[in-house]
Amino acid sequence: MSAPSQPASSMKALILAGGKGTRLRPLTYAMAKQLVPVANKPILHYAMDGLYQAGIRDFGVIISPETGKDIEESLTGWLKPDTRITYILQDEPAGLAHAVKIAQPYLGHDDFIMYLGDNLINADLGSHIADFKQAGYHASILLKQVPNPSAFGVAELDAGGQVLRLVEKPKVPKSDLALVGVYLFTASIFEAIAKIQPSWRGELEITDAIQQLIDDQRTVHSRVHAGWWLDTGKKDDLLAANTVVLGEYAQAVIHGSADADCQFSGAVQVAAGAVLKNVRVTGPAIIGEGCTLENVTIGPFTSVGAGCRLMDCHLENSVVLEECVIEGIPGKIEQSLLGKGCRITKSSHRQQSHKYMLADHSEVEVF
Ligand code: G1P
Repeated sequence: MSAPSQPASSMKALILAGGKGTRLRPLTYAMAKQLVPVANKPILHYAMDGLYQAGIRDFGVIISPETGKDIEESLTGWLKPDTRITYILQDEPAGLAHAVKIAQPYLGHDDFIMYLGDNLINADLGSHIADFKQAGYHASILLKQVPNPSAFGVAELDAGGQVLRLVEKPKVPKSDLALVGVYLFTASIFEAIAKIQPSWRGELEITDAIQQLIDDQRTVHSRVHAGWWLDTGKKDDLLAANTVVLGEYAQAVIHGSADADCQFSGAVQVAAGAVLKNVRVTGPAIIGEGCTLENVTIGPFTSVGAGCRLMDCHLENSVVLEECVIEGIPGKIEQSLLGKGCRITKSSHRQQSHKYMLADHSEVEVF
C-alpha cells in the first residue's frame, strides 16, 4: 500500500464489505457476497473502479472477521499505485451506522462518500460529489424507483422533491423510492448516529441516522438516479445483474485461441490462455483465462470464470465461477449459478439415475 501521490479529490470513501450474505447462500458459505463475480469481475471492484474514476484515492474498507482476509486479498489485486486502503474490522454485523461509527478514527472530520460494497450501479459519482461539495449539504442520498420498496430504506419526498421522511424497510411504503447504497456525508453524521437506537432488527440503521439529520434541521439532499441499480442479493438478481453488466461492458475481443470451427456473434470476450475448439458463442458473453472449451454452445448472457473445463454441453444465461467442470450434459443448462470448482458430469453407469453432492441450501431443478 502506498500513500496517495496527487489525489484528484480530497474526499475519502468508506466501503462496506462486511456482513454475512445470507441471501446468497450457499455461495456465501465459501465467499464474501461482495466478491461474487458479475461478468467475471467481483462486485466490489465495480464500486472501487467507480470511486477511483470519480477521483477518490483514499479508501476505508469495513470488513468482517469471517471474510475480511478474502476482501483484503482481492483488493490487494485491485490496488493502484496512487491509492491507499485502510481496513476497519467490524466485529459483528451491528448495522451500517455502526460501521460509520467505528470508522470515525479513520474518517476524522472529513466529508466522505459511503458505498455499500454489494451494490452495482452505473452512476456518475464525480458529478454527485461535485454537487455535494458546491452546495454544502450535510448529506446527500441517491434514490431509485423500485417495484419492491419494502425491501429497502424508503424516502418520502414533498412536492418540491425535499426529503420529508426516511423509513427502513417499511411494511407500508409511502413511495417507491428506495435508498441506493451510495451516500455522501459530512462529519455531522456522527452526531446523528450518537442519537439513534438500534432498530427492530437490532442494527444501528444509517437510514435512521439520516432521518435524525432531518429532525435536527440539517440539509439532506436527494437525487433520483436515472441509470441502473442492481440488487445482487439472490440468485435471480445476480443473473439479472450479469445480463445488464455484460450487455454494457462485454467487448468483442478474442485473446485466447479458437480453431476454425469456432463461431462468435455479438460481444464475445475470450481471455488470454483460453483454448476453444468447435465452440459457438453468442454474445454478450465472457470466457475467463485459461478455460478449455470443446464442442460447446454458449448462449448469450453467460460468464465463465477462469480455468473452467466445458465439454459437450450447452450453457445459457448463467454465471459459472472459476475452475468448474461441465462435461457431456444433454440438453441446455440455463439460469444457473455455479460456485467455484463445481462439477457437472455425465454418469458412467448405465441405469438412468441422478447423483448429487450438494452443500447446504443448494438448489437443483430437473425436468
Ligand atoms: C441497506 C440499507 C437500505 C438500503 C439498501 C441498499 O439494506 O439499510 O436502506 O436501501 O442497503 O442496498 P440491507 O442490505 O442492510 O438490507
